[in-house]
Amino acid sequence: MTIGIGLLGLGTVGAGVAEILQTPDGRHPLVADLELKRVAVRDLNRPRPIELPSEILCTDPQAVVQDPAVDIVVEVMGGLEPARSLILAAIAAGKPVVTANKAVIARHGEEIAAAAADKGVYVLIEAAVGGGIPIIEPLKQSLGGNRIQRVSGIINGTTNYILSRMADEGAAYAEVLADAQRLGYAEADPAADVGGGDAADKIAILSGLAYGGPIERAAIPTEGIDRLDGCDVNYADQLGYVVKLVAQAKNLGTASDGTVQLDVRVSPTLLPKDHPLAGVHGVNNAILVEGDPVGRVMFYGPGAGSGPTASAVVADILNIAGIRAATGNNGGLDPLLAASRWRNCALVDAGETLQRHYVRLQTGDEAGVIGRIGSCFGDQGVSIRSIVQFETSGEATDAEIVVITHEVKQQHFANALAAIKALPEVKAVAACLPTL
Ligand code: NAP
Ligand code: HSE
Repeated sequence: MTIGIGLLGLGTVGAGVAEILQTPDGRHPLVADLELKRVAVRDLNRPRPIELPSEILCTDPQAVVQDPAVDIVVEVMGGLEPARSLILAAIAAGKPVVTANKAVIARHGEEIAAAAADKGVYVLIEAAVGGGIPIIEPLKQSLGGNRIQRVSGIINGTTNYILSRMADEGAAYAEVLADAQRLGYAEADPAADVGGGDAADKIAILSGLAYGGPIERAAIPTEGIDRLDGCDVNYADQLGYVVKLVAQAKNLGTASDGTVQLDVRVSPTLLPKDHPLAGVHGVNNAILVEGDPVGRVMFYGPGAGSGPTASAVVADILNIAGIRAATGNNGGLDPLLAASRWRNCALVDAGETLQRHYVRLQTGDEAGVIGRIGSCFGDQGVSIRSIVQFETSGEATDAEIVVITHEVKQQHFANALAAIKALPEVKAVAACLPTL
């Protein structure tokens, strides 16, 4: 039985999907049943890495969605609109959707899931997080017997690629970002990668699956690598840490009304060199899931790029094709595969969360300054793990003091920092990064 595929987009991911569909040999036998019926692009004259019959290409994505030969709509065009409207149009036409579009799902996931449930069609999103790593299905299904305590990870390939090459080769930021774009890792607007927004979209999606309810995407505290100073990567290295862009969603408990309280954020973060996420290099991603009773499970692999992402897209298409083959699509939605929401989740006030901190202070190189900084932390009950003075290349009278704290309430840390800033010998709080 042939299943008609309509592709919205034939860029990095779309071309990877088309390549798999055109070469079914040696893959799961269901791949041979998938037939690319229609493909929407913006520019028909753009050179493509893959050859398709010209009659299936068009510039009207609605025509692809509405084409009666298209059974499954695959949205890999990116952006919020018209992607959102096209997904909703496919659902309204009773067609299952596979999408890699984390930006749309993180912002409009509830609306899309409600429409899909109403119509009884699947919207599957494996490729939206972690590129080729299967993480969506494991969270929905394989780990369903667990209470999830924390999901943390490196979930943006572009920034991990940039940080790795800068650390390993001393490569320049702009040059490595250009390479990431050329290799198809970066978003159409790479500000989403380097500013942390892409990772925030992804952790919002993972939180929703892990904890059973959506969170407000816009409320996630987000910092990218665009303001990261190379000297902090260097000092971190000397102190036994690596710096990675980490996204995490931590379960802080359940309120009396049943709402799960979550600490969700994205930030460049110091990881001890023996931390499981510290050895994740290049475009690879890793997601560490901590659950009861499973313990710690880590999912690792290429987090971006044509082939890996297409692998995840095709996995979703095969899931839908498999269900159609088994049930003729009359069996209703499998509640484990379909999106489900079973409780409310809320973000806690950042000031109330616990965190270790790395802070770099620029000070005068004067007797007693370390003691006075220590007193400011001590007055707020902030316990110091290490405090080191580094030589600077600036004026001889300047010093750079790096402090790493134990885990403390963010508000207490902020109070201590305010007192430190007010010390006359402190010239600047030059950097402040969370530490795992
Ligand atoms: P891309 O290379 O920029 O490809 C986008 C494709 O969509 C292009 O073929 C473009 O046509 C087409 N398109 C865009 N707007 C259109 C419109 N209004 N009408 C018709 N066609 C339109 O993007 P990509 O990297 O493949 O990413 C696609 C999606 O996958 C995004 O949501 C992205 O976040 C997600 N994703 C990407 C990766 C990755 O590694 N790249 C990984 C995971 C998820 P033209 O070719 O004619 O310009
Ligand atoms: N731009 C994204 C990244 C693509 O670099 O991780 C994969 O979602």
